[in-house]
Amino acid sequence: MSVQQNNPLRGRLNAWFLAAVDSYVNRLLHAKKSALFADLSGTVVEIGPGVGANLTYLAGAHRVIGIEPNAQMRPILERRAARRGVNLEILPVGAEATGLPEASVDFVVCTLVLCTVGEPRRVLEETRRILKPGGKFLFVEHVEAPHGSMLRRLQRLLRRPWRYVFEGCCLDQDTASLIRAVGFSNCEIDQYRLKSPFVPVNEQIAGVAIV
Ligand SMILES: C[S@@+](CC[C@H](N)C(=O)[O-])C[C@H]1O[C@@H](n2cnc3c(N)ncnc32)[C@H](O)[C@@H]1O
Repeated sequence: MSVQQNNPLRGRLNAWFLAAVDSYVNRLLHAKKSALFADLSGTVVEIGPGVGANLTYLAGAHRVIGIEPNAQMRPILERRAARRGVNLEILPVGAEATGLPEASVDFVVCTLVLCTVGEPRRVLEETRRILKPGGKFLFVEHVEAPHGSMLRRLQRLLRRPWRYVFEGCCLDQDTASLIRAVGFSNCEIDQYRLKSPFVPVNEQIAGVAIV
């Protein structure tokens, strides 16, 4: 498995930033996440767990595997997982190629990650590959605002500096279309506008895609 390298400074900055805003963002998203992640069980893979925003929801899983290429996230993630009693295995690779066996996991979850991965389509194909038949991909993602909206204009204005600071994060990606295009048997996607001070990422989707 190849280990992805992050920029040492921005990688650390992002780990620090996530740790700082984590509990606030989780409060904003609690209703969405607790509904979506209510039935997690068996083997669960989390793509890009960062510093552990979703550990609270993973306690019911038998086995949890985190796919996290940013080494700077790791110490905080491990500390928090231990504190919450989540037995987390971390794979320091990109989710484009996890190395996990085909049809081997019950759930794949990710929150605020598909905007940042280098190749979102490959990540989605890999997700479908590792899920068992009937397995579920659960996600919460920020996405492009509707064409012509003020928010969309703001996203386009900020996209380059944002991408640089947040290591590849794309403000105006049409993630819903990407998810629909990879051949899940069923997709339910809810699009909504969050009310938060992080205005550029307030347009979001949450949902489930079933293999
Ligand atoms: C904005 S953070 C979100 C972290 C966490 N999921 C949350 O909700 O707070 C994006 C995460 O995706 C990770 N990431 C970036 N590229 C990735 C890839 N190719 N595969 C898996 N994770 C990736 C980053 O290291 C980071 O932890």
